[in-house]
Amino acid sequence: MRKVPLIESLRIIGRGSLNWVAERPIVVSFEVTDSCTCWCKHCDHGGPRDDSHNLKPADYRRYMDVLRPCVVQVSGGEPLMRDEIVDIVRAIKSDSGIPYTILVSNWSLMTEEKYEALHAAGVDQFSVSLDFPDERHDDFRGLPGLYKHLEELIPCVARKGYDDIVLNSCITSENLGEINAIADKSREWGVNLCYSAYSQRRTGCRDLFLNSPEQLATLNAELDRVEARRDDTNWIVNAPSTLEATRRYFANRGTPGCKAGLRFLVVTCDGALQPCSMQFHRYALDEQKRMIREFTASNQCDECYVSIRSYLDKSFPQLLKENVAEFFSFKSA
Ligand SMILES: C[S@@+](CC[C@H](N)C(=O)[O-])C[C@H]1O[C@@H](n2cnc3c(N)ncnc32)[C@H](O)[C@@H]1O
Ligand code: SF4
Ligand code: SF4
Repeated sequence: MRKVPLIESLRIIGRGSLNWVAERPIVVSFEVTDSCTCWCKHCDHGGPRDDSHNLKPADYRRYMDVLRPCVVQVSGGEPLMRDEIVDIVRAIKSDSGIPYTILVSNWSLMTEEKYEALHAAGVDQFSVSLDFPDERHDDFRGLPGLYKHLEELIPCVARKGYDDIVLNSCITSENLGEINAIADKSREWGVNLCYSAYSQRRTGCRDLFLNSPEQLATLNAELDRVEARRDDTNWIVNAPSTLEATRRYFANRGTPGCKAGLRFLVVTCDGALQPCSMQFHRYALDEQKRMIREFTASNQCDECYVSIRSYLDKSFPQLLKENVAEFFSFKSA
């Protein structure tokens, strides 16, 4: 995975340290639309929604000025459904290179031209969802032809050499046995890989969770193999401690200690602050402190271990150590 240049790294780490102390968010996820091109089995989105109240590109600058995150996810719904997505990224990204910007997308609407334009506008990482290493992805996502599109486009744009594409694979009971086959696909296409964990909070569906000792044994065997495949290119983007915590999350059926609202938060497509994408408590832009008091301070929810949490549950020294080594242009001790 491409490392961020030294000066930019220093700025991002500097702002992160300030935010940690000031209790401002480290990561903000902008859900730029609720509409989607897919109908995934594991998700509460799917198809078109009312987009008439969406924030405009220029509004995002105001949110950045108040929240000042050092990492931003641009997500949805499907963010590429916004025609102005390049302008949104421009409004989020400052000339200094902050924030580190991740576009989280299913890539159904991605083209080579859009990839170039988004790269030029300041996307540092393209997170592309992949649940199966073949056409079963289309069935899971309810979109025929999606896998073929990814199979043609991803290796082609990866050859440009920006090293900024990360397959994002959400582990469920359905794709559990494919964990290493997805890693094979990632190698074949010349891109990086990040695993995340299914949460039943979005849809209430229990069947996609890992519910039996056999499933947990398969998870452990697959992740043992993944650990053995790491090398110094950082192509498996999850830190080892994160994959360990993912095993515990499934085994214990939850992970307590969530910092939603404090270390990370969501901005909905119509501009409300929410603790996360699965807690629908809405606050105004200037009300993060109230959200921390009313929600985070007493939050007992332990129902997900999605990537945004897996980074930010950690202590600040651990977070720095892992990311300094893997994403930024320093060597850890
Ligand atoms: C909500 S989607 C939004 C961005 C885009 N539409 C996509 O699919 O990449 C972001 C990520 O959440 C994941 N996701 C959806 N439902 C989930 C669930 N129930 N538990 C964990 N992750 C989930 C998806 O697989 C995707 O990688
Ligand atoms: S996971 Fe992404 S692509 Fe699938 S329905 Fe949800 S928002 Fe859409
Ligand atoms: S554990 Fe935290 S991030 Fe996950 S659903 Fe609950 S409140 Fe949201």
